[in-house]
Amino acid sequence: MAIASNPKKIDEVRKEADRLNSAARTADQLMESITLLLNKEMLKYNWVGFYMLEPGTEPPVLVLGHYQGAMTPHTRIPLNQGICGAAASSGKTVVVDDVNNDPRYLACSLETKSEIVVPVFMRGKVVGELDIDSHFPAAFGTDDRELVEYCAQLVGKRLEKDSSVAK
Ligand code: SME
Repeated sequence: MAIASNPKKIDEVRKEADRLNSAARTADQLMESITLLLNKEMLKYNWVGFYMLEPGTEPPVLVLGHYQGAMTPHTRIPLNQGICGAAASSGKTVVVDDVNNDPRYLACSLETKSEIVVPVFMRGKVVGELDIDSHFPAAFGTDDRELVEYCAQLVGKRLEKDSSVAK
C-alpha cells in the first residue's frame, strides 16, 4: 500500500531546492546538493543518485554520478538495460511501484521495493537522469513525481547555463 508524502513537506523541499540552486556555483554542485536534500528530507527516498550520459561513447552509456545511499554495482548502464535505460532512451519519467514485478529492473539493494527515474534534459536532449529507490512499495505518487521532475529540471537548466558561460 502506498503511503502518501506530506504535500507541505514536498513544498518545503521544493523551496529548499530553489535555494540550493541559487547557492550552487555549478551544475555539479547542484546535483550533489539535490541528492543530499532529497535523501535527508524525504524519508522514503532511500537511494538518490544521478546517472549522466557519457559524452562521445557509442553505444551510449549512463555513468553513475553523485549519489546518497548504499553502494550500487550498477555504475555504468547501457540504454537497453534497466529502468534507468528505459527512462533515458524514452525521454519519459518511469515510475515502478513494485520493482520485483518489472523484468527491466536491475537490482541495487534487496531492500528496494519501488523506483522513479526522471530524465534530465539539456536543450531538449536527454543528458542524464535522476534515479530514486525506496524501501517502500509504491512510494512515488503524483506529488513525489512532480518534486523529482522539478529537481531534474533545475539541473537541466543549470547545465544549459553552465555550458553557455563556458563558451
Ligand atoms: N534499479 C536501476 C539500477 C540503478 S540502482 O537502482 C541504483 C535500474 O533498474 O535501472
